[in-house]
Amino acid sequence: MRISVTGAGYVGLVTAAALASKGHNVIVVDTDETKVGMINQKKSPIFEEGLDDMLSNCIESNHLRATGDYEGILDTDITLICVGTPSNPDGSMNLGYITESAKEIGRMLGVKGERHAVVVRSTVVPGTTKGIIIPALEQYSRKKAHVDFDVAVNPEFLQEGKALHGFFNPDRIIIGEEEQRAGDMVQELYEGISAPTIRMGITTAEMIKFTSNAFLATKISFINDIGNICKRLGVDVYDVVKGVGVDYRIGEHFLSAGIGFGGSCLPKDLKALVHSSRHLGYQPMVLESVLDVNKNQILNMLRMVEERLGNLEGKTICVLGLAFKPNTDDIRNAPALEVIRLLMEKGASVKAYDPLAMPNARSVLPEKVQYCRDAHETVNGCDCILVLTEWDEFKDESLYHEKMVFDGRRVLDPGEARTFCDYHGICW
Ligand code: UDX
Repeated sequence: MRISVTGAGYVGLVTAAALASKGHNVIVVDTDETKVGMINQKKSPIFEEGLDDMLSNCIESNHLRATGDYEGILDTDITLICVGTPSNPDGSMNLGYITESAKEIGRMLGVKGERHAVVVRSTVVPGTTKGIIIPALEQYSRKKAHVDFDVAVNPEFLQEGKALHGFFNPDRIIIGEEEQRAGDMVQELYEGISAPTIRMGITTAEMIKFTSNAFLATKISFINDIGNICKRLGVDVYDVVKGVGVDYRIGEHFLSAGIGFGGSCLPKDLKALVHSSRHLGYQPMVLESVLDVNKNQILNMLRMVEERLGNLEGKTICVLGLAFKPNTDDIRNAPALEVIRLLMEKGASVKAYDPLAMPNARSVLPEKVQYCRDAHETVNGCDCILVLTEWDEFKDESLYHEKMVFDGRRVLDPGEARTFCDYHGICW
């Protein structure tokens, strides 16, 4: 198939490379010339396991190229919209990029002779495809959706760090369609990938993505709530999960208690869902609490540190881990950023280390943060250590001997850790 992908961000690049590696001919359209240049020089603008090699192979075999010009979509049969949908300051979803992309695609549909399909893969608030994207496509093409061109929704469920694996081994393929032709084209993209394929209406497909993320976030805040109770009872929440997770109705996944969820999706999508729900006249109390519990975990960590160290003015605090989870350089909504800002507001000096995320962190954190070469250099001469991302290298016991440690990610076994350091788990 001849495929165009708009947006060379995380979802766009992973999707483009994966489809090109399956033998499709893919063109990535992005208005950022720097990204376009990097891709054509076989360099991924983002870090994702295996992506650099896959991009490079696909470009060498002429299955993939990037362009800054929307005219690129004229030589394709189907366009996947993968542009970002970030948060507005009030928590609502910023649909500016997606609207702009729909307008540009619409202009091209207006001049294209053959029939074309447009597939929304970006995460959008339920109702966006019908309420904003289709009207923009129709207005700028002067053509009618489902009659002159096809429209479908195909949400992604990619997890950073294992996105390519997730693309080829999905739990499910969700296709939202108003007429069969559009859905059939999406299904064709995934030929050879074995997964339950579920087809339904466009808005239902959009809602499935939001519900999945909301449920995952709810599991995490739920277990952090339980963890906070367990800590007061002297019970280990990780032991509780062992007993609870075997119930097939509950499951063991996404029940790792800790500093809370971050990243580019769970916080943003949950806030957007809450915002959209209020707009629809319903106050989503569970979802609001999920966000509150998540925010509180950061404050709990600060409280624990202050209880042990007293006034933080002049104290040196070591932070291990800046990325929102291991195996990525992504710091979007990473709990470490907020923890560091609050520590510095209270007058502490912060030494930080992360194997991948320090360049990204430098651009958003206060200048005074001292970045170190490795974890051992970071923990040297500090008043306490905070572990905020569970990188494998932070499981090295020798980092913590005789130190005061606040573990936000359960990198150490608490029983053992208490024999060689002053160990405190955030909710265990
Ligand atoms: C998530 C969804 O999993 C994915 O399906 C969707 O497409 C995008 O959002 P991602 O943001 O890559 O993926 O990260 P994920 O692995 O889901 O972790 C999100 C956050 O939750 C991380 O900060 C992680 O540390 C935290 N987390 C996860 C926990 O605190 N406890 C857990 O048990 C699991």
